[in-house]
Amino acid sequence: MTDESRAKVATRGLEGVVATTTAICKVEDNSLVYRGYSIDELATKAEYEEVAYLLLNGDLPTKEQLRDFKAELVKHRTLSPFLRKILQEMSESGTAMDVLRTVASASAVEDPAEGDNSPEAEYRKAIRLTAKLPTILATYMRRRRGEQPVPPDPSLDHAANFARMAGVDDGHPRAADILNTCFILQAEHGLNASTFTARVVAGTNADMHAAVTAAFGALKGPLHGGATDTTMKMLEEIGSPDHVETFVDKAIQQKYKFSGFGHRVYLTEDPRAKHLRKFAMELAKDWKGKPYFEIQERLAKAIAERRPKMSPSAAAKVNVVNVDYYAATTYTFLGIPADLGTSIFALGRIAGWSAHIMEQHGDNRLIRPESEYTGPLGKRYIPIAER
Ligand SMILES: CC(C)(COP(=O)(O)OP(=O)(O)OC[C@H]1O[C@@H](n2cnc3c(N)ncnc32)[C@H](O)[C@@H]1OP(=O)(O)O)[C@@H](O)C(=O)NCCC(=O)NCCS
Repeated sequence: MTDESRAKVATRGLEGVVATTTAICKVEDNSLVYRGYSIDELATKAEYEEVAYLLLNGDLPTKEQLRDFKAELVKHRTLSPFLRKILQEMSESGTAMDVLRTVASASAVEDPAEGDNSPEAEYRKAIRLTAKLPTILATYMRRRRGEQPVPPDPSLDHAANFARMAGVDDGHPRAADILNTCFILQAEHGLNASTFTARVVAGTNADMHAAVTAAFGALKGPLHGGATDTTMKMLEEIGSPDHVETFVDKAIQQKYKFSGFGHRVYLTEDPRAKHLRKFAMELAKDWKGKPYFEIQERLAKAIAERRPKMSPSAAAKVNVVNVDYYAATTYTFLGIPADLGTSIFALGRIAGWSAHIMEQHGDNRLIRPESEYTGPLGKRYIPIAER
């Protein structure tokens, strides 16, 4: 290694750093590809189960493979009394993301392949986690409303079963279809913060449950998946379309970060946002609450008009409406409480996390970057009696 390549120069936020190779997903400006298939095709034509299979196995299933994969998912939807007990106790005061993370983590205790990182064992674990997360979230949602859980329905597909268990399909006849597409759009996204976290944990040869638990922690933050929930908070704070311009002017002065805007990779368009905007626009027609869609459309316009007033870097970032912006209102218009958007995101993303954990373990090397030290040197220890 030359002295030059040894030089430690930190790249803030690892921007532009290529940290691994992957055959799972390609993310480029205005383009998202899962295992060779464009997100636009998958979002408009596929079922979530097909996409989860694609991510885990490398290609779309045949009819028989899909039937078997679905049957496996159905088999593992039910929660054990142990998990139900944790869930019940946590549901009193825990947030949805804390409950999902904790119950998913606890499921390691009873997983029959615990400690086994072979591809076969990890594939089974991925199926069990994918199958159980909707049941955990739906049970939590019912408990919060003071209702008894509705058991999984084996006759229903993944999204439709979640919609039924959570009671979302009572509110809107297209809920299952729309959720199916949302799960697909959020299933995978390259080396985003939560997937990178999962790979770092998997890189120590820790197991899938450890890596998924860590990924949940990363997804929760408002700069990542947490932005779905903070988008709703922002729209609620604005309160009315007429308040938008005043809000934006003040926000620019205060260097406020608009939730649902900006992306590290996408510079002109997040290819997922247009699909979600279509849903939000469609669902807004029947929505009886605050005019969130009108607020967000006017907000996007006001921000675009005021880009010249922002720093060049901020102007570049707000050029992109990201996945969370219209996912937030889509979920709200389906009757899903405003603080649960990020947890819905997690139900889709579990497939991508699992695929990356398997890929990492398939050709593992410890992920251990270095840091550029900026603290003092040469200090001498002074015994405590002399300090
Ligand atoms: C997504 C995000 C984290 C990407 O961040 P990043 O690539 O690290 O960019 P930075 O945070 O360094 O931002 C660069 C500049 O743009 C500004 N900026 C970034 N996102 C902004 C936003 N949503 N609204 C207003 N300004 C924004 C920053 O304040 C910074 O300005 P400065 O250079 O004048 O100080 C960032 O755009 C963001 O925080 N967005 C809002 C949260 C969100 O929606 N996250 C979900 C992402 S899918």
